[in-house]
Amino acid sequence: MKVIVIGAGQMGGGIAQVMAAIGKTTYLNDVDIDLVNKRLAFIESILAKDVSKGRISAEQKAAAVHNLIPSVDLRDAVECDIAIEAAVEKMEVKAEIFKKLDLITKPSCILATNTSSLPITKIAACTRRPEKVIGMHFTNPVPVMKLVEIIRGQSTDEETYTFVRDLALEMGKTPVLVRDVPGFVANRILQVMINEAIYCLSEGVASAEDIDTVMKLGMNHPMGPLQLADLIGLDTVLSILEVMHAGYGDPKFRPCPLLQQYVRDGRLGRKSGRGFFEYPENA
Ligand code: CAA
Ligand code: NAD
Repeated sequence: MKVIVIGAGQMGGGIAQVMAAIGKTTYLNDVDIDLVNKRLAFIESILAKDVSKGRISAEQKAAAVHNLIPSVDLRDAVECDIAIEAAVEKMEVKAEIFKKLDLITKPSCILATNTSSLPITKIAACTRRPEKVIGMHFTNPVPVMKLVEIIRGQSTDEETYTFVRDLALEMGKTPVLVRDVPGFVANRILQVMINEAIYCLSEGVASAEDIDTVMKLGMNHPMGPLQLADLIGLDTVLSILEVMHAGYGDPKFRPCPLLQQYVRDGRLGRKSGRGFFEYPENA
Protein backbone atom coordinates (compact mmCIF):
# COMPACT_ATOMS: atom_id res chain seq x y z
CA MET A 1 0.00 0.00 0.00
CA LYS A 2 1.25 3.48 -0.88
CA VAL A 3 0.41 6.68 0.96
CA ILE A 4 1.04 10.34 0.25
CA VAL A 5 0.92 12.87 3.08
CA ILE A 6 0.53 16.45 1.89
CA GLY A 7 2.04 19.06 4.19
CA ALA A 8 5.31 18.31 5.99
CA GLY A 9 4.49 20.40 9.06
CA GLN A 10 4.24 18.93 12.55
CA MET A 11 1.06 16.95 11.76
CA GLY A 12 2.04 15.71 8.30
CA GLY A 13 5.44 14.68 9.66
CA GLY A 14 3.87 12.74 12.54
CA ILE A 15 1.35 10.98 10.27
CA ALA A 16 4.09 10.05 7.79
CA GLN A 17 6.32 8.75 10.61
CA VAL A 18 3.64 6.37 11.92
CA MET A 19 2.67 5.23 8.39
CA ALA A 20 6.30 4.45 7.58
CA ALA A 21 6.74 2.64 10.89
CA ILE A 22 3.86 0.26 10.06
CA GLY A 23 5.44 -0.56 6.71
CA LYS A 24 3.65 1.76 4.27
CA THR A 25 5.60 3.37 1.46
CA THR A 26 4.96 7.01 2.31
CA TYR A 27 5.57 10.12 0.25
CA LEU A 28 5.93 13.24 2.39
CA ASN A 29 4.97 16.23 0.24
CA ASP A 30 5.34 19.97 0.74
CA VAL A 31 5.88 23.04 -1.41
CA ASP A 32 9.57 23.35 -0.51
CA ILE A 33 12.17 20.53 -0.42
CA ASP A 34 13.99 22.17 2.50
CA LEU A 35 10.82 21.90 4.62
CA VAL A 36 10.48 18.22 3.69
CA ASN A 37 14.12 17.41 4.44
CA LYS A 38 13.99 19.27 7.75
CA ARG A 39 10.93 17.23 8.77
CA LEU A 40 12.54 13.96 7.66
CA ALA A 41 15.60 14.78 9.78
CA PHE A 42 13.32 15.42 12.77
CA ILE A 43 11.52 12.09 12.23
CA GLU A 44 14.87 10.32 12.07
CA SER A 45 15.91 11.92 15.38
CA ILE A 46 12.69 10.70 17.06
CA LEU A 47 13.21 7.18 15.67
CA ALA A 48 16.85 7.24 16.88
CA LYS A 49 15.61 8.11 20.37
CA ASP A 50 13.12 5.22 20.17
CA VAL A 51 16.03 2.88 19.30
CA SER A 52 18.14 4.20 22.19
CA LYS A 53 15.18 3.59 24.56
CA GLY A 54 14.80 0.02 23.25
CA ARG A 55 11.28 0.70 21.88
CA ILE A 56 12.23 -0.29 18.35
CA SER A 57 15.25 -2.06 16.86
CA ALA A 58 17.85 -0.41 14.63
CA GLU A 59 16.44 -2.55 11.77
CA GLN A 60 12.91 -1.22 12.38
CA LYS A 61 14.21 2.34 12.32
CA ALA A 62 16.11 1.70 9.07
CA ALA A 63 12.96 0.16 7.51
CA ALA A 64 10.83 3.15 8.54
CA VAL A 65 13.37 5.63 7.14
CA HIS A 66 13.54 3.60 3.92
CA ASN A 67 9.74 3.81 3.57
CA LEU A 68 9.77 7.63 3.61
CA ILE A 69 10.10 9.36 0.24
CA PRO A 70 10.52 13.16 0.01
CA SER A 71 8.16 14.83 -2.49
CA VAL A 72 7.54 18.30 -3.88
CA ASP A 73 5.46 17.11 -6.82
CA LEU A 74 1.83 16.22 -6.17
CA ARG A 75 2.02 13.86 -9.18
CA ASP A 76 3.76 11.42 -6.79
CA ALA A 77 0.17 10.68 -5.70
CA VAL A 78 -0.47 8.83 -8.97
CA GLU A 79 0.16 5.34 -7.57
CA CYS A 80 -1.10 5.96 -4.05
CA ASP A 81 -4.04 4.20 -2.43
CA ILE A 82 -4.69 7.01 0.03
CA ALA A 83 -3.72 10.68 0.18
CA ILE A 84 -3.83 12.37 3.59
CA GLU A 85 -3.85 16.14 3.40
CA ALA A 86 -2.27 17.98 6.36
CA ALA A 87 -1.52 21.41 4.87
CA VAL A 88 -2.48 24.68 6.55
CA GLU A 89 -6.00 25.17 7.97
CA LYS A 90 -7.29 27.33 5.09
CA MET A 91 -10.23 26.27 2.93
CA GLU A 92 -8.74 27.79 -0.23
CA VAL A 93 -5.46 25.86 0.19
CA LYS A 94 -7.26 22.57 0.84
CA ALA A 95 -9.69 23.17 -2.07
CA GLU A 96 -6.78 23.60 -4.48
CA ILE A 97 -5.02 20.46 -3.21
CA PHE A 98 -8.18 18.32 -3.43
CA LYS A 99 -8.95 19.56 -6.97
CA LYS A 100 -5.45 18.55 -8.06
CA LEU A 101 -5.49 15.21 -6.20
CA ASP A 102 -8.80 14.34 -7.86
CA LEU A 103 -7.21 14.81 -11.29
CA ILE A 104 -3.92 13.04 -10.48
CA THR A 105 -4.86 9.98 -8.41
CA LYS A 106 -6.42 6.71 -9.57
CA PRO A 107 -10.22 6.60 -9.14
CA SER A 108 -10.02 4.17 -6.20
CA CYS A 109 -7.66 6.41 -4.21
CA ILE A 110 -9.14 7.67 -0.94
CA LEU A 111 -8.69 11.39 -0.28
CA ALA A 112 -8.51 12.08 3.45
CA THR A 113 -8.03 15.37 5.26
CA ASN A 114 -6.55 16.02 8.68
CA THR A 115 -8.49 19.30 8.92
CA SER A 116 -9.19 20.40 12.50
CA SER A 117 -12.48 22.10 11.77
CA LEU A 118 -13.43 22.59 8.11
CA PRO A 119 -16.51 20.85 6.65
CA ILE A 120 -15.61 17.52 5.03
CA THR A 121 -18.63 17.82 2.72
CA LYS A 122 -17.34 21.16 1.41
CA ILE A 123 -13.84 19.74 0.81
CA ALA A 124 -15.41 16.69 -0.89
CA ALA A 125 -17.35 19.02 -3.22
CA CYS A 126 -14.02 20.13 -4.73
CA THR A 127 -13.68 16.64 -6.23
CA ARG A 128 -15.66 14.38 -8.57
CA ARG A 129 -15.49 11.58 -5.98
CA PRO A 130 -17.13 12.89 -2.80
CA GLU A 131 -17.82 9.27 -1.79
CA LYS A 132 -14.06 8.73 -1.43
CA VAL A 133 -13.40 11.85 0.69
CA ILE A 134 -13.22 11.59 4.49
CA GLY A 135 -11.89 13.37 7.57
CA MET A 136 -9.07 11.62 9.43
CA HIS A 137 -8.30 13.97 12.29
CA PHE A 138 -5.19 13.02 14.24
CA THR A 139 -4.03 14.77 17.40
CA ASN A 140 -0.68 16.35 18.14
CA PRO A 141 1.97 14.92 18.58
CA VAL A 142 0.75 12.14 16.28
CA PRO A 143 3.27 9.42 17.29
CA VAL A 144 2.24 9.87 20.94
CA MET A 145 -1.50 10.61 20.91
CA LYS A 146 -3.97 7.74 20.48
CA LEU A 147 -7.04 9.53 19.12
CA VAL A 148 -8.24 9.78 15.52
CA GLU A 149 -11.59 11.44 14.86
CA ILE A 150 -13.10 10.01 11.69
CA ILE A 151 -15.58 12.27 9.97
CA ARG A 152 -17.81 11.09 7.15
CA GLY A 153 -19.00 13.74 4.70
CA GLN A 154 -22.53 13.65 3.34
CA SER A 155 -21.54 11.24 0.55
CA THR A 156 -18.65 9.25 2.08
CA ASP A 157 -19.26 5.57 1.29
CA GLU A 158 -19.01 2.63 3.67
CA GLU A 159 -15.92 1.20 1.95
CA THR A 160 -13.99 4.46 2.46
CA TYR A 161 -15.03 4.64 6.10
CA THR A 162 -14.05 1.02 6.80
CA PHE A 163 -10.69 1.44 5.06
CA VAL A 164 -9.79 4.53 7.06
CA ARG A 165 -11.03 3.09 10.36
CA ASP A 166 -8.96 -0.08 9.83
CA LEU A 167 -5.92 1.98 8.85
CA ALA A 168 -6.23 4.04 12.04
CA LEU A 169 -6.38 0.80 14.05
CA GLU A 170 -3.33 -0.56 12.22
CA MET A 171 -1.51 2.68 13.19
CA GLY A 172 -2.23 1.81 16.84
CA LYS A 173 -4.83 4.56 17.18
CA THR A 174 -8.33 4.58 18.61
CA PRO A 175 -10.79 5.85 15.99
CA VAL A 176 -13.96 7.67 17.02
CA LEU A 177 -16.75 8.41 14.53
CA VAL A 178 -17.86 12.04 14.64
CA ARG A 179 -20.45 13.99 12.63
CA ASP A 180 -19.39 16.66 10.13
CA VAL A 181 -19.89 19.76 12.30
CA PRO A 182 -17.45 22.70 12.64
CA GLY A 183 -14.52 21.69 14.91
CA PHE A 184 -15.94 18.13 15.23
CA VAL A 185 -15.74 17.11 18.93
CA ALA A 186 -12.06 17.66 19.84
CA ASN A 187 -11.76 21.30 18.81
CA ARG A 188 -15.34 22.26 19.62
CA ILE A 189 -14.49 21.57 23.25
CA LEU A 190 -10.74 22.26 23.42
CA GLN A 191 -10.58 25.58 21.59
CA VAL A 192 -13.25 27.19 23.76
CA MET A 193 -11.08 26.43 26.78
CA ILE A 194 -7.95 27.76 25.06
CA ASN A 195 -9.76 30.93 23.92
CA GLU A 196 -11.03 31.50 27.48
CA ALA A 197 -7.48 31.11 28.82
CA ILE A 198 -6.35 33.80 26.34
CA TYR A 199 -9.18 36.10 27.53
CA CYS A 200 -8.00 35.52 31.12
CA LEU A 201 -4.49 36.57 30.09
CA SER A 202 -5.64 39.64 28.14
CA GLU A 203 -7.85 40.76 31.06
CA GLY A 204 -4.91 40.42 33.47
CA VAL A 205 -6.65 37.77 35.57
CA ALA A 206 -3.31 35.98 36.05
CA SER A 207 0.05 35.58 34.32
CA ALA A 208 0.45 33.08 31.46
CA GLU A 209 2.48 30.80 33.75
CA ASP A 210 -0.14 30.92 36.48
CA ILE A 211 -3.08 30.32 34.12
CA ASP A 212 -1.30 27.19 32.90
CA THR A 213 -0.44 26.12 36.46
CA VAL A 214 -4.14 26.29 37.39
CA MET A 215 -5.06 23.83 34.66
CA LYS A 216 -2.01 21.58 35.18
CA LEU A 217 -2.23 21.27 38.96
CA GLY A 218 -5.95 21.89 39.37
CA MET A 219 -7.22 19.71 36.52
CA ASN A 220 -4.27 17.38 35.92
CA HIS A 221 -3.88 18.50 32.29
CA PRO A 222 -0.43 17.47 30.97
CA MET A 223 0.05 21.00 29.58
CA GLY A 224 -1.59 24.29 30.37
CA PRO A 225 -3.93 25.73 27.70
CA LEU A 226 -1.50 28.49 26.67
CA GLN A 227 1.42 26.09 26.32
CA LEU A 228 -0.88 23.78 24.36
CA ALA A 229 -1.96 26.66 22.09
CA ASP A 230 1.73 27.33 21.43
CA LEU A 231 2.21 23.64 20.57
CA ILE A 232 -0.78 23.59 18.18
CA GLY A 233 0.26 26.87 16.52
CA LEU A 234 -1.59 30.14 17.15
CA ASP A 235 -2.40 30.53 13.43
CA THR A 236 -4.12 27.14 13.56
CA VAL A 237 -5.94 27.96 16.81
CA LEU A 238 -7.22 31.21 15.25
CA SER A 239 -8.32 29.51 12.02
CA ILE A 240 -10.23 26.85 13.96
CA LEU A 241 -12.01 29.46 16.12
CA GLU A 242 -12.89 31.49 12.99
CA VAL A 243 -14.37 28.41 11.31
CA MET A 244 -16.47 27.62 14.41
CA HIS A 245 -17.50 31.26 14.93
CA ALA A 246 -18.70 31.48 11.32
CA GLY A 247 -20.16 27.96 11.34
CA TYR A 248 -22.24 28.21 14.53
CA GLY A 249 -22.77 31.99 14.56
CA ASP A 250 -22.34 31.78 18.32
CA PRO A 251 -20.30 34.48 20.14
CA LYS A 252 -18.81 31.85 22.45
CA PHE A 253 -16.40 30.99 19.60
CA ARG A 254 -15.30 34.64 18.98
CA PRO A 255 -11.50 34.61 18.85
CA CYS A 256 -9.89 36.72 21.57
CA PRO A 257 -8.40 39.94 20.07
CA LEU A 258 -5.06 39.14 21.79
CA LEU A 259 -4.86 35.92 19.76
CA GLN A 260 -5.59 37.84 16.55
CA GLN A 261 -2.89 40.35 17.42
CA TYR A 262 -0.27 37.66 18.10
CA VAL A 263 -0.99 35.98 14.76
CA ARG A 264 -0.81 39.35 12.94
CA ASP A 265 2.58 39.89 14.60
CA GLY A 266 3.87 36.48 13.47
CA ARG A 267 3.87 35.18 17.05
CA LEU A 268 2.68 31.71 16.08
CA GLY A 269 3.82 29.71 19.10
CA ARG A 270 6.51 27.06 19.30
CA LYS A 271 7.07 26.85 15.54
CA SER A 272 7.98 30.56 15.21
CA GLY A 273 9.98 30.77 18.44
CA ARG A 274 7.45 32.88 20.34
CA GLY A 275 3.81 32.67 21.34
CA PHE A 276 2.56 32.96 24.90
CA PHE A 277 6.00 31.62 25.87
CA GLU A 278 9.45 31.81 24.29
CA TYR A 279 11.14 28.99 22.32
CA PRO A 280 14.64 30.32 21.57
CA GLU A 281 15.63 27.06 19.84
CA ASN A 282 13.09 27.84 17.07
CA ALA A 283 13.55 31.61 16.90
N1 CAA B 1 6.89 13.67 17.79
C1 CAA B 1 7.17 12.49 18.36
N2 CAA B 1 7.29 12.32 19.69
C2 CAA B 1 7.14 13.42 20.46
C3 CAA B 1 6.85 14.68 19.94
C4 CAA B 1 6.73 14.79 18.54
N3 CAA B 1 6.42 15.94 17.94
N4 CAA B 1 6.76 15.56 20.97
C5 CAA B 1 6.99 14.88 22.10
N5 CAA B 1 7.23 13.58 21.79
C6 CAA B 1 7.56 12.51 22.70
C7 CAA B 1 8.88 12.81 23.37
O1 CAA B 1 9.96 12.45 22.52
C8 CAA B 1 8.80 11.95 24.61
O2 CAA B 1 9.15 10.63 24.29
P1 CAA B 1 9.89 9.70 25.39
O3 CAA B 1 8.81 9.27 26.33
O4 CAA B 1 10.43 8.60 24.57
O5 CAA B 1 10.96 10.55 26.04
C9 CAA B 1 7.31 11.96 24.94
O6 CAA B 1 6.62 12.44 23.76
C10 CAA B 1 7.02 12.90 26.08
O7 CAA B 1 7.58 14.15 25.78
P2 CAA B 1 8.35 15.09 26.81
O8 CAA B 1 9.03 14.22 27.84
O9 CAA B 1 9.20 16.02 26.02
O10 CAA B 1 7.24 15.99 27.44
P3 CAA B 1 5.90 15.63 28.17
O11 CAA B 1 6.01 14.46 29.07
O12 CAA B 1 5.40 16.92 28.69
O13 CAA B 1 4.91 15.17 26.99
C11 CAA B 1 3.26 15.74 25.44
C12 CAA B 1 4.70 15.94 25.88
C13 CAA B 1 3.05 14.30 24.95
C14 CAA B 1 3.04 16.70 24.28
C15 CAA B 1 2.29 16.02 26.65
O14 CAA B 1 2.62 17.25 27.25
C16 CAA B 1 0.85 16.06 26.25
O15 CAA B 1 0.18 15.04 26.13
N6 CAA B 1 0.32 17.29 26.02
C17 CAA B 1 -1.05 17.49 25.59
C18 CAA B 1 -1.14 17.22 24.10
C19 CAA B 1 -2.50 17.49 23.56
O16 CAA B 1 -3.44 17.85 24.25
N7 CAA B 1 -2.62 17.32 22.22
C20 CAA B 1 -3.82 17.62 21.53
C21 CAA B 1 -3.64 18.95 20.82
S1 CAA B 1 -5.12 19.45 20.00
C22 CAA B 1 -5.10 18.64 18.55
O17 CAA B 1 -4.20 17.93 18.22
C23 CAA B 1 -6.27 18.86 17.66
C24 CAA B 1 -6.23 20.03 16.75
O18 CAA B 1 -6.86 19.93 15.68
C25 CAA B 1 -5.58 21.29 17.09
P1 NAD C 1 2.14 23.45 10.13
O1 NAD C 1 2.07 24.92 10.03
O2 NAD C 1 3.10 22.80 11.07
O3 NAD C 1 2.45 22.84 8.68
C1 NAD C 1 1.68 23.08 7.55
C2 NAD C 1 2.53 22.70 6.34
O4 NAD C 1 1.69 22.73 5.18
C3 NAD C 1 3.69 23.66 6.07
O5 NAD C 1 4.91 22.94 6.02
C4 NAD C 1 3.35 24.28 4.72
O6 NAD C 1 4.48 24.57 3.91
C5 NAD C 1 2.51 23.16 4.11
N1 NAD C 1 1.70 23.58 2.97
C6 NAD C 1 1.01 24.75 2.80
N2 NAD C 1 0.41 24.75 1.58
C7 NAD C 1 0.73 23.56 1.01
C8 NAD C 1 0.42 22.97 -0.25
N3 NAD C 1 -0.33 23.61 -1.15
N4 NAD C 1 0.92 21.75 -0.54
C9 NAD C 1 1.70 21.09 0.35
N5 NAD C 1 2.02 21.60 1.55
C10 NAD C 1 1.54 22.82 1.87
O7 NAD C 1 0.65 22.95 10.41
P2 NAD C 1 0.17 21.66 11.22
O8 NAD C 1 0.10 22.02 12.64
O9 NAD C 1 0.94 20.48 10.78
O10 NAD C 1 -1.34 21.55 10.70
C11 NAD C 1 -1.65 20.97 9.46
C12 NAD C 1 -3.12 20.61 9.39
O11 NAD C 1 -3.43 19.70 10.45
C13 NAD C 1 -4.09 21.78 9.55
O12 NAD C 1 -5.23 21.54 8.76
C14 NAD C 1 -4.43 21.74 11.04
O13 NAD C 1 -5.65 22.33 11.34
C15 NAD C 1 -4.47 20.24 11.25
N6 NAD C 1 -4.23 19.82 12.64
C16 NAD C 1 -3.34 20.50 13.40
C17 NAD C 1 -3.10 20.07 14.69
C18 NAD C 1 -2.10 20.78 15.55
O14 NAD C 1 -2.08 20.54 16.77
N7 NAD C 1 -1.28 21.65 15.03
C19 NAD C 1 -3.78 18.95 15.20
C20 NAD C 1 -4.68 18.27 14.37
C21 NAD C 1 -4.91 18.72 13.08
